[in-house]
Amino acid sequence: MTKTLPQNFFFGAAMSGPQTEGAYTKDNRLESIWDTWSNLSISDFYNKVGSYVGNNFYEKYEDDIKLLKSLNMDSFRTSIQWTRLLDINGKINPDGANFYHKVINCAKENDIEIFMNLYHFDMPTYLFNKGGWENREVVEAYAHYAKMAFREFGKEIKYWFTFNEPIVEPDQRYRHGVWFPFIKNAQKGINVQYNISLAHSLAVNEFYKAKEQGYIREDAKIGLINCFAPPYTKENPTPEDLEALRIEDGINNRWWLDLVTEGHLPQDVLETLKQYNMLPEMRPGDEEIFKLGKVDWLGFNYYHPSRIQAPKEKYDANGHIKFSDPYVWPEAKMNIYRGWEIYPKGIYDFGMKMKKEYPNLKFFVSENGMGVEHEHRFRNEAGEIQDDYRIEFIKEHLEWIAKAIEDGAQCLGYHYWGVIDNWSWNNAFKNRYGLVEVDLMNDYQRKLKKSAHWIQNVIKTKTITD
Ligand code: FCB
Repeated sequence: MTKTLPQNFFFGAAMSGPQTEGAYTKDNRLESIWDTWSNLSISDFYNKVGSYVGNNFYEKYEDDIKLLKSLNMDSFRTSIQWTRLLDINGKINPDGANFYHKVINCAKENDIEIFMNLYHFDMPTYLFNKGGWENREVVEAYAHYAKMAFREFGKEIKYWFTFNEPIVEPDQRYRHGVWFPFIKNAQKGINVQYNISLAHSLAVNEFYKAKEQGYIREDAKIGLINCFAPPYTKENPTPEDLEALRIEDGINNRWWLDLVTEGHLPQDVLETLKQYNMLPEMRPGDEEIFKLGKVDWLGFNYYHPSRIQAPKEKYDANGHIKFSDPYVWPEAKMNIYRGWEIYPKGIYDFGMKMKKEYPNLKFFVSENGMGVEHEHRFRNEAGEIQDDYRIEFIKEHLEWIAKAIEDGAQCLGYHYWGVIDNWSWNNAFKNRYGLVEVDLMNDYQRKLKKSAHWIQNVIKTKTITD
């Protein structure tokens, strides 16, 4: 049956500053942790494409915004790069600020609502060298950065977000050592997660202060974006599997959900951490800071579910506690290029979880997408990439969103990641996510894929067709 979405359901693009802008030395931009990693070891990046390039949004933003409009999109999330907006003394860098003013104005002229995020894994290197998220001084520096951004753009931006996926840096950089500086220390992961939670809360506080002081428009909202998918376990779980589920869901999801709805961290998670002697350093006054962390709404990034079971061993090779092992569901359908399971119903399950457990909090799907390698294989004679797999992927996810809304989920919109092919961290341009191709050999030229035409019609009609 053909499903429809509400007429006021919004549709747009999700992107980030560090993955699109390029121009890494323009405007006296400072070095970020991604530039540092690229400088240190370029072969860690797919095809040796480091953080310098983005997809040249810096030069092409006007055409890109028009392109989004031509696809009938009404909104677009990107992020300010801390390294571009502020100088090393925490003062506004006028050239950097000017770039973002130009982007915001261009969006306004094209009737595109900008959703502005403040942080997308892109720590300035001089702060990383002071300990990054392990250091409370950096938490303060982030709150200052947020304040400066609110004051600079507060009259122009309606939708603000403090962080994109705040769980990812603790995981990738500190717990599993996948990203530079490759730390494999579960305790550091928790410490960093805790400090990012403080940073989020302090930024929300700056938002309200700036609003009171008249720097921010009255209708502005503040939110948090995370990959909140609830984990699944085996069909007939043991009590140990259910325990693994509780703690993993607690650390990855409830940690943030409780913070942004109730202004505190989940008690059961803190108790478990205490039991393993893993509590982060908690200072007097922190509880008061967390109370400031409540937001107006949430962004939910959804690519894949997480499936887990009780850990076989209690400690990993580094001697750190393991709360779970991955569980491979025999029926899983995989995106082999990224190694991520495709499970569209997960989006519905999240909607139902929100309805039941956090009924007052509205959300939108802030990222969803499919990255595929070597897409040139799918070019037709006219040279257009026939990405039917992507159409199918989006269609199935939208259908489950439509069903979630029918069943009472307060899901207000959908942003596709990233609409225009862009740079994906150390995978660089390996897996392409776009509905629009970027030709790296030809001045980053943009070309529509089949899915771009398809989505144009879906957005126009709010009807999910083949
Ligand atoms: C998400 C990130 C985003 C992008 C997609 C593919 O986890 O938020 O920056 O890289 O994955």
